[in-house]
Amino acid sequence: MKILVINGPNLNLTGIRSPDIYGTDTLSSIIAELDAYVESCNSELFSVQTNHEGEIIDIIQSAMGEIDGMIINAGAFTHYSYAIRDAIEASEIPTVEVHLSDINSREDFRKVSVIKDVCIAQIFGLGKQGYINAAKLLLTREMN
Ligand code: DQA
Repeated sequence: MKILVINGPNLNLTGIRSPDIYGTDTLSSIIAELDAYVESCNSELFSVQTNHEGEIIDIIQSAMGEIDGMIINAGAFTHYSYAIRDAIEASEIPTVEVHLSDINSREDFRKVSVIKDVCIAQIFGLGKQGYINAAKLLLTREMN
C-alpha cells in the first residue's frame, strides 16, 4: 500500500512552537517513526510538508491514481479551507485527518473541521501516535 502523509502550515515548526501544546518531537522525527512503522507493514510512505494551501491541493490531485491512502494534518486550513475539503472529496482517496493537539479542548475556531466529513476518521490529541494510528487504520482497512 502507498500512503501519503501531508502536513500543512506551521507543522514544520513542530518541536519548536508551543511545545506544551504540540510536544517536543520534531516533524522529521515523527515522520521517521511513521515511515518505519509503514515499512514494517510492507508498505510505502511518501511525505510532504507545505505552508501553502494551493500546493496541498496540487499534491492531493497528483496523488489520484497513485496513492492508496492519505493522512492529512492540514493545520489551521482544517478550520476553513473548503478548497482542501473539495480536493480530498474529489480524489476519492481514503483519508484520515490527524491533529497533534486536542482541537476540541482549545479555542472555539479549532473545534470546527471543514474536512472532517470527507475523511474516514479524525484523530486528535494523541501527538505523534495519532499518525501511527492513522496509518494502522488505512492499512487494516486495505486488508479487509
Ligand atoms: C493542529 C491544530 C490546528 O488548529 C493548528 O492550527 C495547527 C496544528 C494540530 O496538529 O494540533 O497548526 O492541526
